[in-house]
Amino acid sequence: MPAPMLSYRHSFHAGNFADVMKHVVLVALLRYMIRKEAPFCYIDTHAGAGGYDLRGEHAQKTAESELGIGRILAAADAPAPVARYLEIVRSFNESARVAKYPGSPWFAATLMRKNDRLMLCELHGSDFPQLRQLFRSDRRVHCYAEDGYRFSTGLVPPAERRGLIFMDPSYELKNEYATAVATLGKLHRRFATGVYALWYPLLAERNSAVLKRSVDRLGIRDVLNLELLVTDRDQQAGMHGCGMLLVNPPWTLRNDMELALPYLAARLGRDGKGEFRIEAWASE
Ligand SMILES: C[S@@+](CC[C@H](N)C(=O)[O-])C[C@H]1O[C@@H](n2cnc3c(N)ncnc32)[C@H](O)[C@@H]1O
Repeated sequence: MPAPMLSYRHSFHAGNFADVMKHVVLVALLRYMIRKEAPFCYIDTHAGAGGYDLRGEHAQKTAESELGIGRILAAADAPAPVARYLEIVRSFNESARVAKYPGSPWFAATLMRKNDRLMLCELHGSDFPQLRQLFRSDRRVHCYAEDGYRFSTGLVPPAERRGLIFMDPSYELKNEYATAVATLGKLHRRFATGVYALWYPLLAERNSAVLKRSVDRLGIRDVLNLELLVTDRDQQAGMHGCGMLLVNPPWTLRNDMELALPYLAARLGRDGKGEFRIEAWASE
């Protein structure tokens, strides 16, 4: 089958509220993974370019980062899980002024150790070369211009038998929710002890009840659902919030999120409309 034409570019959205939430969660997951000495494999099914210029034409056009990272960058009162994330964002910049925003593979590469491995999939013809260039001298990192849904299933179980699988699709294709959940199911069947994180947008016509039904059908037991809502559901046609579905969440995660999410809801919510949810989903 020919590769689909992709028009989504993350450079228009880097550092927005959704990136802040997903990367705060990612940093918390990675910190758990490095508590144990044994090496692990990080698989990013939708890696993006690895880093983004917040002063570039794309980012300036939408100015989305102003309602995301821009709202918390200077905060002195950030709880520990948010402060740790901010530290990595700052370390991606040469000067004190944050002009660049790191992508998920950079957060991972920063926290991972020399015996850990990173497997990164990115399909876009412009983003892939940037990703490969960013990690050209990092021998832990392997970049693949492949479909992350299909390719990732061949990467599990990883030789290390410890793995964190980060799924951050752009959801631009019809049925992509279904593809993402089906892939999660396939990966979990092959590698039941892996830690999985699937990001999803909350849109007026799509809510987590729909997602919950399809995850229930997979019969995966240990699921934690996190949501951050920044505005009213029908106030605008676009994304009013986002969520992350965690399979086999580390025991440290709930505590980290109980600190981080109320803070993010208060800071990133618009007109006092920020809300958050932390729910364990038990399948029947
Ligand atoms: C939301 S962005 C990823 C952002 C990145 N994970 C981060 O946090 O910095 C989604 C990316 O997936 C890429 N993409 C879309 N469909 C894909 C597929 N089937 N396999 C691999 N990459 C894909 C897009 O080109 C885009 O760069």
